[in-house]
Amino acid sequence: MRYTKYIVTLGLLFLSLKSVSQTQKLTNFTPGEIWKDNEGNHINAHGGGVLYSNGTYYWFGEHKGSTNDARVGVTCYSSKDLYNWKNEGVALPVSKDPNSEITSGSVIERPKVIYNKKTKKYVMWFHLELKGQGYKAARTAVATSDKPIGPYVFVRSYRPNVGNWPKGFNEEWKKNVPGEDTLKWWTPKWREAVKGGLFVRRDFARGQMARDMQLFVDDDGKGYHIHSSEDNLTLHVSELTDDYLDFTSNYITIAPAGHNEAPALFKQNGVYYLITSGCTGWDPNAARSFKATSMWGPWESLGNPCIGKDADITFDSQSTYILPVAGKKDAFIFMADRWRPKNPIDGRYIWLPIKLENGKPVLEWKDKWTLNDF
Ligand code: DGJ
Repeated sequence: MRYTKYIVTLGLLFLSLKSVSQTQKLTNFTPGEIWKDNEGNHINAHGGGVLYSNGTYYWFGEHKGSTNDARVGVTCYSSKDLYNWKNEGVALPVSKDPNSEITSGSVIERPKVIYNKKTKKYVMWFHLELKGQGYKAARTAVATSDKPIGPYVFVRSYRPNVGNWPKGFNEEWKKNVPGEDTLKWWTPKWREAVKGGLFVRRDFARGQMARDMQLFVDDDGKGYHIHSSEDNLTLHVSELTDDYLDFTSNYITIAPAGHNEAPALFKQNGVYYLITSGCTGWDPNAARSFKATSMWGPWESLGNPCIGKDADITFDSQSTYILPVAGKKDAFIFMADRWRPKNPIDGRYIWLPIKLENGKPVLEWKDKWTLNDF
């Protein structure tokens, strides 16, 4: 009886301390640390992107558990200040129907949401791999909602640009070269063949592969879908239709055979900047950067944007999105994931301010920083 009183008191103390820690306002970014939401849980929104709508930021990302496949769906968190995030729940749930393309156990990666002013719909695109097929399907998928936080309704998944050649694709490259599909991978000859459209030709009739992806809405309202294609060897930039629900036939290739993943981009003073990673699975590698004065290129390579310690592994992370800070001129946040493949739910968020120096984006590690650091 005596002890019951103590146990109850201790319990109450624990609960009140927990609620204090949950309501404590955060006032800075701490890359790589545990980022708690309003309920005190580490934010579960990996490979994410952010939509800004009517004074609120919405962060969408992959829900991860102890494995990488999708068991829950795409999560959403909201914030007014970018430091404190409210869990808004699951924006796009996986389907219980075993025949659905987004059934539990499929792979749903890198979801991004944009708002279409004409249709007043929120449009989510993500990279989808069909259950039990590893990364073979290489599809892009689309879902829509009337509200930013969802629920999003799955529309379809596919490989885009069926029967379309990229802009500027040489007439000669459209013809099959006998025997080139048997070339040994990674040899100089094979690399030249990839640059000359080997995989674009291979996938011409069934649609181009679409894995790591990004969305970008330009000042004129045009939407673009940027994704790793051609077995991750070449990036494709494709124009979306006016409702953002499909691809027009316009697309280009960037850095053919350059092996880029994780595309993230921003536009500053009329110049488009693109940050990507190399391809090493869940392991970090050195980021790359590019710039162009048109989405249709040419895209000029600018090298690794990271400087200082661990610049060669992007501070143990991989890009996922570049977030323009609302109302702050020239303030862009580089968002990246520090993957934890052995326990994906423990993945961390690396957000850093982007500096532009001599026309190049520059990223430097910071343990702690605020929006005033821009
Ligand atoms: C790296 C990609 O960037 C991730 O999104 C994920 O697809 C992993 N590869 C899978 O190995």
